[in-house]
Amino acid sequence: MKRRTFLRNSTLMGAAFAGAPFIRAADIARKYRTALIGSGWWGKNILKEAMASGRCQVVALSDVDANALEVAGEQVNDLSGNTPKPYRDYRELLAKEKPEIVIIATPDHWHALNTIDSLKAGAHVFVEKPTGHTVNESRAMLKAARESERVVQVGLHRRIGPHHVSGMKFLKSGAVGDVGMVRLFAHGGGGGEQPAPNEEPPANLDWDFWCGPAPKRPFTKRLHPGGWRNFLDYANGTLGDWGAHWLDQVLWWNDGQQPKRIFCAGGRPIRGVPLLNERVQTTDTPDHQVATYEFERFTCVWEHRQFGENENEKHKIGAYYYGTKGVLHIGWRDGWTFYPTGKGDKILHEKSQLQEPDGHNIRLLWADFLDAIEQRRAPVASIEQAHRSNVLPLLGMISWRLGRSIQWDAAKEQIVGDPEALQLQARPYRAPWIYPAI
Ligand SMILES: NC(=O)c1ccc[n+]([C@@H]2O[C@H](COP(=O)([O-])OP(=O)(O)OC[C@H]3O[C@@H](n4cnc5c(N)ncnc54)[C@H](O)[C@@H]3O)[C@@H](O)[C@H]2O)c1
Repeated sequence: MKRRTFLRNSTLMGAAFAGAPFIRAADIARKYRTALIGSGWWGKNILKEAMASGRCQVVALSDVDANALEVAGEQVNDLSGNTPKPYRDYRELLAKEKPEIVIIATPDHWHALNTIDSLKAGAHVFVEKPTGHTVNESRAMLKAARESERVVQVGLHRRIGPHHVSGMKFLKSGAVGDVGMVRLFAHGGGGGEQPAPNEEPPANLDWDFWCGPAPKRPFTKRLHPGGWRNFLDYANGTLGDWGAHWLDQVLWWNDGQQPKRIFCAGGRPIRGVPLLNERVQTTDTPDHQVATYEFERFTCVWEHRQFGENENEKHKIGAYYYGTKGVLHIGWRDGWTFYPTGKGDKILHEKSQLQEPDGHNIRLLWADFLDAIEQRRAPVASIEQAHRSNVLPLLGMISWRLGRSIQWDAAKEQIVGDPEALQLQARPYRAPWIYPAI
């Protein structure tokens, strides 16, 4: 079998690499040269776990915000005694440091370029979800991963979180019966929104680089750090953020089958009409959305709202799987609970086991990542699987933008019968950045 054919077959089986210059057992005693691109809140959380593994030496950090770089550098120094080299430009970091592992925790509009460049530089990659800001970016990331023969783990830590693993085992065992409908949801507070003033970016921030391939909006403190989630130029709102996790669970359950039709409605009745002028701006993502995903054997509904938070609501974030034998809720901090349909049958519950602060399971995901590198196997949240699930929120957003349902051809990875929708699988890049090839 030709090498290229072998690689293709092995990636289809879920192992996105073969025959690569992987680190051998003899090398295990030494530490991986590790770098971080995007040294904000979540990047530092991942970095901590990389250092705690005892297997990684943090050699370099990148951020376009000098303050973020400094804080992350101090954290590394405090926790490991190392002094990582700071870089504003991640391309320079890759060229000079030649890291073996790169962690990517930039805002979503950067994930594709950061990942592809890191893979081309020869690194294994741990990239945060979602796998792209547009569908074709996600496809390009997958293509680059397949060609690179490196391990790419996506930060979907729920794939390895103990209560998710046991909840999924319970669901797959048939204990919930035949499941005909799934409901995913994220309900949070927020409410109305006042416009924020446009400002000069602070001296510590390279705003042009921060925007990178995306449109360059006037800077406002509401955008950075973290607030970019609610600006369509850089992210896809709550569906793109939380939806990536919960839709991934659905594809975990149904072995990666994708929906054939998607319809999404929503708007900003509470946050108001988006505003952007010379003086002020608001966010522009929907404050609530309902997306319907038609799968072959069941229907899945996503819903979120950023208002009307109800303290008495039992489960605010998570999934309900409705089966003939009962309803399974798999949540976040509230673990999983099975509500049987049979009168008198006992409600079953399993608590979550999360790392604090911030309630996640990155430690487990990081251990799996290193093991995947050493064992030459696909990691639990492989780019192959993450790509398939992470395009679903993006398809929901396309339907929402157009106000009509779209048909998805999973085999071709294309929206069919709607040229306008198909065009939204990608978007123009701001020069000099070039949209990655699929
Ligand atoms: N898996 C999870 O549960 C989880 C939880 C939180 C966040 N995340 C993900 O982590 C990522 C980061 O989120 P955050 O909340 O830490 O955001 P953040 O805004 O706090 O941090 C992002 C950092 O990236 C920097 N940055 C922007 N462009 C850059 C570039 N070109 N090169 C280097 N640095 C650049 C910013 O200056 C900022 O410091 C997001 O993709 C988010 O979806 C995942």
